[in-house]
Amino acid sequence: MTREGGGSSAPEAQGKYRPLAGVHVLLTGGTGFLGQATLEKLLSAYPTVRVSLLIRERRGAPAAHRLETLMLKPVFQSWREHLGDGEWQRAVSERVGLIEGHLGDVSLPGGIDVVIHAASTVSFDRPIDEAFATNVSGVVALYQALADAGADAHVVHVSTAYVAGMRKGVVAEAALEHTVDWRAELASARAVRADVERDSRRPETLRKLSGRARSEHGKAGPQSVAAAAEQARQEWVARRLVDYGRTRAQSLGWPDVYTFTKALGERAAEELWAGQGHRLSVVRPAIVESSLRHPYPGWIDGFKMAEPLIIAYGQGNLPEFPGIPDSVIDIIPVDLVVNAMLAVAAAPPEPGGTAYFHVGSGTRNPLAFRGLYENVREYFRRHPLPAGERGHVRVPSWRFPGGQQVEFMLRSSERATSVAERALLRMPSSQRTQEWMTAVHRQRTNLDFLRRYSDLYEAYTQAQVTYDDSRTLALHRTLPDDLVTDHGFDPAVIDWPAYIQEIHAPAVTALVRSQRTGSSRSAVPHAPASLPERHDVAAVFDLEGTVVASNLVESYLWARLSAVPRSRWGGELAGLARSLPRYLRDERRDRGDFIRAFLRRYAGANEAELAELFDDVLGQALLQRALPEAIRQVRRHRAAGHQTILITGAIDVLVRPLEALFDQVVASHMHTRNGVLTGHLQQPPLVDEARAAWLQQYSASTGLDLTGCYAYGDSYSDRPLLELVGHPVAVNPDPALYAHARRRRWAVENWGTHARGAADTMIDTLAVRQR
Ligand SMILES: NC(=O)c1ccc[n+]([C@@H]2O[C@H](COP(=O)([O-])OP(=O)(O)OC[C@H]3O[C@@H](n4cnc5c(N)ncnc54)[C@H](OP(=O)(O)O)[C@@H]3O)[C@@H](O)[C@H]2O)c1
Repeated sequence: MTREGGGSSAPEAQGKYRPLAGVHVLLTGGTGFLGQATLEKLLSAYPTVRVSLLIRERRGAPAAHRLETLMLKPVFQSWREHLGDGEWQRAVSERVGLIEGHLGDVSLPGGIDVVIHAASTVSFDRPIDEAFATNVSGVVALYQALADAGADAHVVHVSTAYVAGMRKGVVAEAALEHTVDWRAELASARAVRADVERDSRRPETLRKLSGRARSEHGKAGPQSVAAAAEQARQEWVARRLVDYGRTRAQSLGWPDVYTFTKALGERAAEELWAGQGHRLSVVRPAIVESSLRHPYPGWIDGFKMAEPLIIAYGQGNLPEFPGIPDSVIDIIPVDLVVNAMLAVAAAPPEPGGTAYFHVGSGTRNPLAFRGLYENVREYFRRHPLPAGERGHVRVPSWRFPGGQQVEFMLRSSERATSVAERALLRMPSSQRTQEWMTAVHRQRTNLDFLRRYSDLYEAYTQAQVTYDDSRTLALHRTLPDDLVTDHGFDPAVIDWPAYIQEIHAPAVTALVRSQRTGSSRSAVPHAPASLPERHDVAAVFDLEGTVVASNLVESYLWARLSAVPRSRWGGELAGLARSLPRYLRDERRDRGDFIRAFLRRYAGANEAELAELFDDVLGQALLQRALPEAIRQVRRHRAAGHQTILITGAIDVLVRPLEALFDQVVASHMHTRNGVLTGHLQQPPLVDEARAAWLQQYSASTGLDLTGCYAYGDSYSDRPLLELVGHPVAVNPDPALYAHARRRRWAVENWGTHARGAADTMIDTLAVRQR
């Protein structure tokens, strides 16, 4: 990619043609994509222009700090280099002023000659009140602030070609024809959130959300269920507000809340500015993409409209898309849009008048959706994305079967994926299950992506409309010949194959390629093998499935079968098998219930005899069932000075043989009467949230640093414990925990089971004992 020098020829310096010479420009949206390109051009090509930037504080960063960061962005690199260090900073301090505030709350200085109003929310699916807050209320507040400052500036109001809404044929560069009352729509959009919040708290809605949260998170404990239910309520509110915006927009003929609010914003501007005798120009770009030439070919800031689709296609994740092959996809490079905006800024209409300009390629140099697809496919054929160990991605060939057929394929795949997800969550933990979960998760992500974008982009990829740009072209033709290359905006100069294959696609894939050359993004992180030496941290281990390949049922059987002759083992096993479905149901719902129900089986056992049995004989079998990797990890922690803690819902007598391995064992204790177990627990078992609560209290009283602590667990019921520490590790995770660990990028370990099967170990042990 070649970069132009920092300064393109300055029109101000060209003889009589002195557009914008010495003017004071107020620029809103200067931190955005179009705004950055506009600011850069004003700085590099209009040396006598002063710019005041409206910047808001964002995510804790004050406006002044944001301005400093902004000036270091790549868009200004050539300009900075052209002026040199020291000089560019001086130029900024002399020519760039900061106005701190946001559209809804701003007071403006006097002496503004031109306003370029580019600030906007550009998301197609914002909640209705948020979209109105910036694109309608924000517009109203800006014009009010200009009036309050006594300004008579020429305002270049940046809108979008798609304000024309869903229609076919040619759209004129003129005021929109509609009778929608923007004030009434604004009032209604502002009021909606209160209604939706109230609806979200209706008992029927809450019951549904809580029920779903219980079935998905019940194993992790009541607080986890409550948190999930509340999160689901908030998501419900957000979805509903998005739906309000989209549905209202579509009911009036706009594809989405973005174009709807931008259209109403235009109407407000006409009324509040041109209607008050001022000069107003409305610039309507189509789909703005990376620059053709300036500041360098391919400059783009973040992912805009086409990029997510291009990347997903290059990754092989878009087998089809519901676009019409012959529909015009109206793309325009950002530098041509900036040139058009600045030419418009220099050519105001009469006071009280409004001038409209379409800036796109669809009329002069149309690119069909099929053309975009073919060029992108050709690019990826020549430069495929890496696919880890599988070599390179082979991109799919689209057949364009039509929107309905793609919708049918999408629905069927969504249904099949949901069935697979539900089935997998009920399967036992194994490496195979994890592989299936990963594949289904990937499929779900791709389908969600396709669903989102096929809904959002329908109006853009199935458009049968063109935007007349004769007024824009006429303005371009007023440029002196020697300024056309640097300041022109005739889209006829775009060579689509060259632009897409040599400029745009390489620019948007550069980031993905650089990310992929390192470690594969999909790789699952592992538990740390080398551990920092510390004395203020602990490593907490769950027992069953994490440290030993055994469980409550198995230990019970060992104890029970050791007490009866071999001839009665069949009967004992059959009795247990009959109760298993009930235990499984309990286990799925609440691990504490399962432990309580199962330990009832010990009622009547003599505590001392049970302890002796485990200490002398069955303890050996338990140790043999310990997972070697778990033992190694416990030792590593000990060597690093960490406290090692075993935490389990099982009863203490059963786990006594493991006491030597850990610094501390926290287990349940059974209630006894006269040395005989009653079948009840002394206290509630330490499961799910109770474990997290125990660790929290323990760390507070002993001064452990939880962010440095480690926790190892295999079940979704361990989630609260794992969430509490800085280093959570899912070991041999059940499907629900595995899915959660992947989402949270937690370490996942498959420590394998012991070389000898459970049955072999137990039978050998018992046989020896009974001999
Ligand atoms: N990109 C396109 O394809 C395209 C196509 C047609 C028309 N347009 C129009 O071009 C203009 C710029 O779009 P863009 O792509 O550059 O968008 P962008 O990258 O998302 O930038 C939006 C800008 O608006 C600012 N902003 C948003 N809400 C604000 C508020 N309440 N107060 C103050 N500033 C606020 C943002 O500031 P923060 O940095 O503080 O968030 C940011 O600077 C918009 O009017 C858009 O409708 C864009």
